[in-house]
Amino acid sequence: MFHRSNPALLWLLAAVLALALAISVSHADSGTVLLRFSHVVAQDTPKGMMASHFKELVAQRSGGRIRVEVYCDSQLYGDDDEMEALRLGAVEMLAPSLSKFGNYGLPEFEVFDLPFLFDNLAQVRRVTQGPVGQQLLQRLGRQQMLGLGFLDNGFKQMSAHKPLRTLADFQGQRLRVQASRVLAAQMRALGAQPVVLPFGETLQALASGVVDGAENPLSNFLTQKLAPLQSDVTLTGHGYLGYAVVINPRFWASLKSADRALLNSALAEALALGNQLSAQMNEQALTQLQRSPNVRIHHLTAEQRAALKQAAQPVYEGFARSIGASLLKDVQQAIAP
Ligand code: SIN
Repeated sequence: MFHRSNPALLWLLAAVLALALAISVSHADSGTVLLRFSHVVAQDTPKGMMASHFKELVAQRSGGRIRVEVYCDSQLYGDDDEMEALRLGAVEMLAPSLSKFGNYGLPEFEVFDLPFLFDNLAQVRRVTQGPVGQQLLQRLGRQQMLGLGFLDNGFKQMSAHKPLRTLADFQGQRLRVQASRVLAAQMRALGAQPVVLPFGETLQALASGVVDGAENPLSNFLTQKLAPLQSDVTLTGHGYLGYAVVINPRFWASLKSADRALLNSALAEALALGNQLSAQMNEQALTQLQRSPNVRIHHLTAEQRAALKQAAQPVYEGFARSIGASLLKDVQQAIAP
């Protein structure tokens, strides 16, 4: 399904675009470049840290001539409008969760949402850093985005007002998911009711009782301050959350090739740091939550995990066609030892 924007939003974005064009013309004269990088999570997350490292590296290496402005926490654009903003040139760079591309005409990215697909980050990297990852980045061109690289956050854990260890626990729970058909199907397969919401609205939805729970890597759970609203975290590790860094292709083409090289190398370093930090930050978040008097952490037994995995299997059959059977096979081959 293709995303639709409302006309008021498009007018606003068009005005921003006109302003952006005026700014870029004046920048072209002085050789200065402004790159606006918008994202929806907190600064002290793997994505936030990657973005600020990128900004610092670019400032150092260009002597301040290329300026990266980072807008975190959906300050500038949220899940509903950031891709449109990128296409219109109202921002130059984004790093949306891979789950968010399916709704924008790129269903193959929903392969990453398949429940219990990956057991560890090493398997994820064999996909994202290998030929399959390259092929996926190239496909972004179909939707007027240039893919520059992948970033991990990590594995998602379930949170609610009770432990979610068995299918009976999931029954009837209203659980917030990103706008991914695979994630919605996963929740239904487990017996829960999926509620699609932008990331920036999740806290409010939990506070007002619109949803009972959510799935997040612990770094997002902690930094979005979901802990007081969710007393129980079950370490299900049932799915992966990662990002693709994308840039507006017109902006990219407007740069001198030396500036493109500078940005590419700074981003490669920032992504390496972000990938290194992601596992670390999720572990630190777990330690912090374990110490919190307001949160109880639950583990799954091997049998409980196997039962959830089996219940989620129909999702694979349901989406093999839209993800693409051959892509799914390539991903499974890359994962296999
Ligand atoms: C993100 O990490 O960028 C947000 C993920 C979500 O929407 O759950």
